[in-house]
Amino acid sequence: MRNERKILVTSALPYANGPIHLGHLVEYIQTDIFVRYHRLRGRVCYYVCADDTHGTPVMLKAEQEGVSPEALIATVGAEHARAFADFGISFDRFGSTHSEENRRLSEIFYTRLHEAGHIAVRDVEQAFDPVKGLFLPDRFIKGECPRCHAEDQYGDSCEACGATYTPNDLIHPRSALSGAEPITKRSTHYFFKLKDFASDLADYTRSGSLQAEATHKLDEWFTQGLNDWDISRDAPYFGFRIPDTEDKYFYVWLDAPMGYIATFWQLRNALEGRELTPEQVCAQWGEHEIHHFIGKDILYFHALFWPAMLTAAGFAKPSAIHAHGFLTINGKKMSKSRGTFVTARAYLDCLPPEYLRYYLAAKLNGAIEDIDLHWEDFRARINADLVGKLVNIASRTSQLLAKHLDNALGETLVDAPLYEEFLLAGETIGRHYEARETSRAVKAVMDLADRANRYVDEARPWEIARAVQRRGELQAVCTQALNLFRVLIAYLKPILPQTASAVEDFLGGPELTFESIKTPRLGQTIKPYRHLLTRIEAADLRPLAGDTAEPSPKPTRPKPAPQDARPQTLTIEEFGRLDLRVARVAHAEYVTGADKLLKLSLDLGEERVRTVFAGIRGAYEPDALIGRLVVCVANLAPRTMRFGVSEGMVLAASDGEGPFLIAPDSGARPGSPVR
Ligand code: MSP
Ligand code: ZN
Repeated sequence: MRNERKILVTSALPYANGPIHLGHLVEYIQTDIFVRYHRLRGRVCYYVCADDTHGTPVMLKAEQEGVSPEALIATVGAEHARAFADFGISFDRFGSTHSEENRRLSEIFYTRLHEAGHIAVRDVEQAFDPVKGLFLPDRFIKGECPRCHAEDQYGDSCEACGATYTPNDLIHPRSALSGAEPITKRSTHYFFKLKDFASDLADYTRSGSLQAEATHKLDEWFTQGLNDWDISRDAPYFGFRIPDTEDKYFYVWLDAPMGYIATFWQLRNALEGRELTPEQVCAQWGEHEIHHFIGKDILYFHALFWPAMLTAAGFAKPSAIHAHGFLTINGKKMSKSRGTFVTARAYLDCLPPEYLRYYLAAKLNGAIEDIDLHWEDFRARINADLVGKLVNIASRTSQLLAKHLDNALGETLVDAPLYEEFLLAGETIGRHYEARETSRAVKAVMDLADRANRYVDEARPWEIARAVQRRGELQAVCTQALNLFRVLIAYLKPILPQTASAVEDFLGGPELTFESIKTPRLGQTIKPYRHLLTRIEAADLRPLAGDTAEPSPKPTRPKPAPQDARPQTLTIEEFGRLDLRVARVAHAEYVTGADKLLKLSLDLGEERVRTVFAGIRGAYEPDALIGRLVVCVANLAPRTMRFGVSEGMVLAASDGEGPFLIAPDSGARPGSPVR
């Protein structure tokens, strides 16, 4: 038991000039799983994050929208917080870099760097928009590519031919803001002398805090030499003014990582109910294992600038920097023009958040590799794993328990060694979570789910259920299966927190943890089963995977109802293609070798009766069906099954209970169309 660990975890701070999208969510979901895992093991684990609010893009966006930057970041901050909450991201605090604590920290860091001689001051020449009165960042300058002469290319690279260059190389450069030709203007800038920390950094990068690939990347950067880092920007700029200057501001990347400490500071203030001093914050920061989760694109900032600044200011360096790769969608970079840009909100309008959490978890590992979200693969994966394997264990057995045993669990486990085996697997699964090898954790749990399903298949509870004198046996099998299911849900709780809490409600008992599952649920009554997760239909994905860029003009779909009746839209023409007809059951019989099926002969008013295999054996006696009216889908393509050809389908309601056959009122004539 090593519960004395105190862990502080961060995700990179999202820019406040755009919505949260699925690429972002790779990071927040990966981090959240790590955090929830540690909390589940009883460790102190804080998770803080904030909006990254400063810089030219935010300033210009606010101007465009005719609001103050403060108003813009307040609106965006609230939207971000809502998106994160909807995906179950469990921040202890989500703040903003535009806070008093962050201003104080930025000034403290800067002053310490300055006093220790790590700041250089010198003039630089830069592109300036004479109309806007603004120095122009590279990506605000456009012009003709010097290599291929494509028009309208950004100041740093050409999208047409891939050339990289500086804005000075552009032919006919223009300000993207005003269209004016930029002029060159001098101004004084402040630089952080990164080289002063070269040997510190060389040690740090080999201290085990970085992934192997990151260390490798850093070696390359060391070889290229460490350059001074420009940490100032001229007014007008949305940010914090540099102390003792009139019109110089901290570059957004100076105060952004400070936001980690500032938000931790706010969290500690709230928890302790007092204002901590910077010294106290510094001490507390140092008492934690610090884990930064970031994308591979911002490794330079986190593995070089940030540890150097922390060292210079006397703060503890991160214990670990965990970089991940980038998300592609259907194999392509996320891009608005390609229709592969999916916002968090657009996803939530179509699908439950935990499906994305599960899918990403099943793909993520501890390496810096890109991962692909392929919508068809996503659908197949969720349907096979979550619905087909996991939930299946509980749905089939709890329905029998409800029907024949009033939801009462047995007093003992019939197969205690199997349960023990499941408990033992927790060790390995825990290690996978700790190492961020969530794909392995998921794989291990799904192997156990297969094992649990095999147990149910072999025990054949639906057969046992037919004999009234075998109730004890039936109860034992269902109790065993439901307890195995409970262990699996505990293991998946970091990934599927909502589902886990629904299962806690369903099975009752203490909160699910790696500890609490050591005591199985026995001799208690559980709640009736309700659907936990439902299949994804192709239509659910259409608004997301469609080839239009903006998922906007689609009707927003209602949130899944608790019983998961998620309607898909259908045109009247599509509906019209269904040939539904009244049928009379002419004959019905068991099918040897099929646990679920009855073989029906249906009279549809045609010359010949039709054979239909229906999965209703658990609910209906064949003899009782003969003569009944049902509704049949008459134009379903015939399906060859192991037992014969099925020439249609009968309609039945099923929501975990049932199935219940749909019957026309008496008097309806076999063969008449159902409209
Ligand atoms: N504001 C900076 C981070 C400052 S941290 C002190 C930033 N913001 S961001 O909004 O562009 O990105 C936030 C995080 O999301 C980054 O870690 C970034 O790598 C990650 N991702 C953004 N797009 C992504 C994908 N398409 N795929 C995976 N992660 C992505 O960078
Ligand atoms: Zn070009």
